[in-house]
Amino acid sequence: MTSTTPSLTEYKDNTKRPVAVFDSGVGGISVLREMVKIMPYEDFIFYGDSKNAPYGTKSEEEVRRLTISHVENFLSEGVKAVAIACNTATSAAVRKIRIMHPSLPVVGIEPAVKPAAERHPGGRVLVMATPMTIHGEKFKKLMGRFQNMAEIIPLPCAGLMEYVEQGKTESPELLEFLRQLLWEYIKNPVDAVVLGCTHYPFARPMIRKVLGPKPEIIDGSLGTAHELKRRMELSGLLRTESSKKGSVVFRDSMMSEEKIALMKKLFTMQIEEN
Ligand code: DGL
Repeated sequence: MTSTTPSLTEYKDNTKRPVAVFDSGVGGISVLREMVKIMPYEDFIFYGDSKNAPYGTKSEEEVRRLTISHVENFLSEGVKAVAIACNTATSAAVRKIRIMHPSLPVVGIEPAVKPAAERHPGGRVLVMATPMTIHGEKFKKLMGRFQNMAEIIPLPCAGLMEYVEQGKTESPELLEFLRQLLWEYIKNPVDAVVLGCTHYPFARPMIRKVLGPKPEIIDGSLGTAHELKRRMELSGLLRTESSKKGSVVFRDSMMSEEKIALMKKLFTMQIEEN
C-alpha cells in the first residue's frame, strides 16, 4: 500500500488519526459516503482490495486471512478505527478481529434484515447478498432471529458485484442480468429488498427498474456509519469540530488508476433513493 498518511509517531492527538474503511473493491464507497456525511471532520482512508476481489465466492478462511492482514496494515499506519465496509468480510472476520484488537473501535456491516422485517411484519423480504454471506453462520443466525416476523428469502447473487467493479451500473447488460436473477420476484413481488452487499446500492436504480415500484429497497450503510460514530464517541476518538473538513484518500490493492477514478466517481454519484 502506498501512503500519504503521517507515520504512527507523528500523531500527538489520537483523535487526529485517520479512520480506515475497507472493502473487497469499490462497493464500500456506498458506506464511506454515509460516514463522511455524518462525520465531516474525520480523515478517511478507503482501501479496496480489487486484486483479490470478488470475496463473495471465496472460502471463509481465505477472506478472514485477507481481512486480518489488511487490518494489521492499517494499524501499522496508525489508524484509530476500522470499518469493514463489506458484508462478506464482516461475516468471515469481524469476530476474530475484535478478539485480536479488543480496544480498537471496529464496525462491520450485515444485511439489514432487522429493519426490513420490522417494517414489513408478515411480509416477504428478499435478501440479496454474496454466496459467502448467505451461506455463512452469521447470516443463518440473523435469519433465525427474524423469520418468525417475516418471510426471509435469501438470494445469493454471484456475478452482480462485477458490474459495479467495471463501472457498468447503467448498462443494458446489468439490466438483463438482473431480469434473469430476479425473474421469480418480478412474477411474485416481495415487500422489501435488502441490499446485503455494499456494491449493490450502486445497482439500486436498475434493481428498482426491474422490480417495479412496490418493494422498499433497504441497505445498512447509514446504520453502519452511525454505529462507527457511536463507537468512536464512546472511545473519545471522534473529531467533533475542526477548522477544516476532513480528507478522503482512496487506495486500491492493484494500484490501478482506473479503479481510483471509479472510486471517486462512485463517491460523488447521485443515486436515486426510490
Ligand atoms: N462488497 C462486498 C460485500 O459487501 C462483497 C463483494 C465481493 O467481493 O464479492 O459483501
